[in-house]
Amino acid sequence: MGKKIIVTVDGLSSCGKSTLARALAKELGYIYIDSGAMYRAITLYFLRNNLNWNDPRQVEEALGNIELHFETNPVTQRSEMHLNGENVEYIIRDIVVAEKVSEVAAVKEIRSFAVAAQQKMGEKKGIVMDGRDIGTTVFPKAEVKIFMTADEAVRVERRFAEMYDKNPNITLEEVKTNIELRDYIDSNREVSPLRKANDAIVLDNTHLSEKEQLQAALKIVQGRMQPA
Ligand code: CDP
Repeated sequence: MGKKIIVTVDGLSSCGKSTLARALAKELGYIYIDSGAMYRAITLYFLRNNLNWNDPRQVEEALGNIELHFETNPVTQRSEMHLNGENVEYIIRDIVVAEKVSEVAAVKEIRSFAVAAQQKMGEKKGIVMDGRDIGTTVFPKAEVKIFMTADEAVRVERRFAEMYDKNPNITLEEVKTNIELRDYIDSNREVSPLRKANDAIVLDNTHLSEKEQLQAALKIVQGRMQPA
C-alpha cells in the first residue's frame, strides 16, 4: 500500500476495539497503539503511590515522574505497556485498575499528558490507535475513523470471559457494573467525552466473528484509501 495513513478506532468499553485494531495493524503492516493502556498505567501509578488524582499538585508531580512506552514482546510479538521501565501489561487489566481508570482519565491534565504522547507516536503515521477520543481529539484529521459498537450483553460476556481466565473470583455482575460505570463516566466527562466523530464509520460487531470484523474494517480502510 502507498502512503501511510492514520486509522482511529473508538468506542465503548469492551467492544473489541483492541482485537480489531491489533489485527488491522498487522494486516496493514502498521504499528498498533492501545491508548487505554496508557490511562490504565497512569491509574496504576496513582493507586500504588496512594496519590489523589483530584489534587492538582499531586497530579503535576506524578506526571513528572511517569514514563510510559510500548515494547514488543519477542515471544508473542504483541506490543506491551511499560511504566517506568516495568512491564505492566498484565496488571493494568486487573479490576482494581478498571474500577478507577475512568475517574483518572477524566482529569484534564492527565488527558493532556496522554494525548501529547499519543500525537507524538503518530507523527510518522502508519499507526492504528484505539481509544475513546482518538478520532475526535487526538487525530481529528485521521484518514480513516472507525467507531465500534456492540450490544451491552455481548460486551459484558466477552470481557467476563477474558477476565475470568486470569481471575476465577471475578463475577459477571462485577464486570457488568464496571463496564456500565466506565461507559457513563467516559461519555459524560467534560474533556473529550466519548463521541463518534462526524466522519467516523460505525462498525457494529455484535454478530461478527473476529475474522468478519477484520474484513469489514479492511473494506472501510480500502474505501477511504482509493486514489482520488
Ligand atoms: O476495557 P477497554 O479495553 O474497553 O478500555 P481501555 O481501552 O483499556 O480504556 C480504559 C479506560 O481508559 C476507558 O474506560 C477510559 O476511561 C480511558 N480511556 C480514555 O479516556 N481515552 C482513551 N483514548 C482511551 C481510554
